[in-house]
Amino acid sequence: MTTTADQSLWLSALPEHPRPPLTGKHTYDVAVVGGGITGLTTALLLKRRGLKVVVLEADRVASGVSGNNTAKVTALQSTVYSQIRRAHGLAAATDYATASQSAVAQVASLVELEGIDCDLRRAPAVTYAYTEAEVRDVDHELITARQVGLPVRASVDVDLPFEVHAAIRLDDQLTLHPVKYLLGLAAAIDGDGSAVREHSRVLDVSGTRLSTADGQVEANQIVIATHFPTLDRGLYFARMELTRAYCIAARVANPPRSLAISTGSPSWSIAAHGDKLILAGQSHATGQPAVEPFRRLEDFARRHWQVEEVTHRWSAQDPTSYDHLPMIGGYTPGSTTMFTATGYMKWGLTSGTFAASLLADLVTGKPNDLAERFSPHRFSLKSLPELVRKNAEVAAEFVGDRVLPADATSSENLPPGQAHVVRDGLGKMGVYRDDEGHLHAVSMRCTHLGCLVRFNAAERSWDCPCHGSRFDVDGEVLEGPATRPLPKREPR
Ligand code: FES
Repeated sequence: MTTTADQSLWLSALPEHPRPPLTGKHTYDVAVVGGGITGLTTALLLKRRGLKVVVLEADRVASGVSGNNTAKVTALQSTVYSQIRRAHGLAAATDYATASQSAVAQVASLVELEGIDCDLRRAPAVTYAYTEAEVRDVDHELITARQVGLPVRASVDVDLPFEVHAAIRLDDQLTLHPVKYLLGLAAAIDGDGSAVREHSRVLDVSGTRLSTADGQVEANQIVIATHFPTLDRGLYFARMELTRAYCIAARVANPPRSLAISTGSPSWSIAAHGDKLILAGQSHATGQPAVEPFRRLEDFARRHWQVEEVTHRWSAQDPTSYDHLPMIGGYTPGSTTMFTATGYMKWGLTSGTFAASLLADLVTGKPNDLAERFSPHRFSLKSLPELVRKNAEVAAEFVGDRVLPADATSSENLPPGQAHVVRDGLGKMGVYRDDEGHLHAVSMRCTHLGCLVRFNAAERSWDCPCHGSRFDVDGEVLEGPATRPLPKREPR
C-alpha cells in the first residue's frame, strides 16, 4: 500500500531546522515582508546594489505559494496575451511579454551567478487545445504572441500522450525545483549585514517600523511581498479575485519534457520533475465548491500515463487583478517608502521575478519603463465593468448569506470528515467532525468584512467567497486578507 503525501513535492526539501527568528531591535535599509519568490528575489537584487536588507517570513522560506506550484518559469502562459490585449491593447501585452522574457533570463542568471543547485532544466513551453473547441483560443494566442515579439511556433508535435488539436510552442523556457531555488536565494542574501528570518510574522507596521513577536526593525523602506497584500490600506481585496487550484505529482513511466497547459475549462497543466508527472488544474473561485479535484486529476493522469504511484498532492491560492495585469509599485498612490506586488494570475515564479526587478528599481529610485504599466494605482476604464461586476457579486454574497439556512440543529449525526452549518442564536456556526470523531466549531462570520465562510471539503478549511480569506477547522487564518481567527464556538 502507498500513501500520498498531502504536501507539495517541493516542500520536503526544506531543512528541518528553520533560520532563527528576528529578536531585538535592528536597523536596515530595506525590510522585505515575505520569503517567497518576490521577497527573496527583491532582497537579493537590493543587496547586490549595496543595501542592507532583512527578509521577515511569517513561516518558513518558500512555504507559501512559491513552494506550492508547478515549477514553470515561462513567457508563454496559456492565453495571457489575448486576455491582456483585450483588456489593455497590444502595447500592454508587449510589455508583459518583455517583462516575462526578462524573468526567464533573470532566473537563469541568478542560478548561475549564485551557483544554486536547483535542478534547473530548459524545456519548451506549450499552450495546447485539448478539445476541438479550444482551437480558436490557441490560434488567437499564436497570432498575439507573435505580435508581442515572442518566437513562438505552431506545432501539434508535442510530447504528450494524447492528441492535441492545436498547439503553440516556445522553446528555451525553464523548470526547476522552486524550494531549492528559493533556499539558494536566501543563502545568498544572508551575511554582510543582510539576513533572512523565519517564523517572524510582522504583527504591526507603523511608519517604517515593523514589529514581530520578539523583535523590531526600523527601515528606510518596506516591501510587502506576502503574495496578497494584507495591510488594511490600499483596498487590494476589492480589486482582485482569488482562485484555488490543485496539483498532484505521480511517478509515471514516461514523464513529458514540455511545460504544457490547455486553454479550456477545466484546464490541464502538465510538467515533470525527474520521474514524476506534475499535473494541475480544477481551479475555482475561492469559497465556491470544489468537486473532488484530486480524484479528477488522478483520473486524468491514469487515463493518459502509466501511473505507478501518486506521491504528492497540494493546492494553492492565486490572486488575479480585475484588469488582468499584475500590480507592482507603491503600496498607496505616490508612496516612496512602502511597495508591494501581487496579482500574478497563477504565473508567480515568472511574474514574481520580474516584479522583483521592478521593485528593486522603485526602491532605489532607478527609472523603469514598466513602472506605470504595472502600477497598482492605474485605472482602466475598459476594465471598469469587471470591477463593478466583482464588487456586485461580493455585495450579493454579503446580503444573500444572511438567509443561508442551517443544515441541522445538532451535530450528533455528523459523519467524520464532514462539516455542516448549525444555527447559533441569531448567527451560524460551522461544525466539522475530524477523523477521530472530535467536533470543531467556529463562527462562520469572516473576520475580514463579515461574509459567511463555506466549507472546502477538498482541503478541510473554511473559505470566504467574498475576498478569499481561508481558515482551518479551528478558525486559524490560512490565507488573508483576514488577519484574525474565526471565533471558536461550543459545538452542539
Ligand atoms: Fe473579505 Fe471574507 S475575505 S469578507
